[in-house]
Amino acid sequence: RMEVGKLRTGCEEFDELMGGGIETQSITEMYGEFGSGKTQIAHQLAVNTQLPRDMGGLDGSVIIIDTENTFRPERIEQMVAGLSQKFEQDFDPAEFLKNIHVARAYNSNHQILLVDAAMEMANNLKNTDKPVRLVIVDSLTAHFRAEYVGRGTLADRQQKLNKHLHDLQRFGDLNNASVIVTNQVMSKPDAFFGDPTRPIGGHILGHTATFRLYIRKSKGDKRIVKLVDSPCLPDGEAVACITTDGLCD
Ligand code: GTP
Ligand code: MG
Repeated sequence: RMEVGKLRTGCEEFDELMGGGIETQSITEMYGEFGSGKTQIAHQLAVNTQLPRDMGGLDGSVIIIDTENTFRPERIEQMVAGLSQKFEQDFDPAEFLKNIHVARAYNSNHQILLVDAAMEMANNLKNTDKPVRLVIVDSLTAHFRAEYVGRGTLADRQQKLNKHLHDLQRFGDLNNASVIVTNQVMSKPDAFFGDPTRPIGGHILGHTATFRLYIRKSKGDKRIVKLVDSPCLPDGEAVACITTDGLCD
């Protein structure tokens, strides 16, 4: 077993909340309502992963399974510019974009198959100077939610999602990579599920995602990141900012 890596977020409080950063060989679920910043944070992590380890990165490349067509290369460029300022270096945005491999998932079955493709790509990159150290599934649940409607299909959906998460955990283990998944929740209490801070589908991800982060909007650029039910870290909250330059204190 390789030593667990820690991917820094760009926000010190957030890193501290996570015990130093987002861990490799684990699934980290970010859940929150629309516009809370899940996709933005995912973009930032796709950039930071490529940094050398002494700058908080994992010196690796990234695979994004994009299910909602929300990947924005321009955002990556802005965040790289932000890093160039922060570290007073001339990072090349094109170089960062080159190391982010984006695959669109057209439905839930396709999404599941893309993890196999990701594994193959990771194997090919394993002995290069940029092995895959992060896989992002944004959104993990949107296709499943749209396709599996009605009570009779819930068990089916859960079974498929469990398999998918199991594959992702395996990817993280075999590649010493971080796995980030996003999951949208509703702001208002839901008649069926009740608690607004619980993702739709309730316990579907509860047992599999090792780290669960509830993201919510605060004043202006501020976001509150809450660590929920972690098996090895104290629950707590961090304040992070989403700016044009990316995630910061
Ligand atoms: P869903 O996918 O709909 O569930 O939402 P999400 O949680 O993925 O939200 P997302 O990460 O897309 O957040 C969108 C929000 O990020 C916007 O409403 C802005 O507040 C902020 N944002 C996005 N781009 C920029 C930017 O270039 N500059 C700044 N300052 N904020 C941005
Ligand atoms: Mg999003």
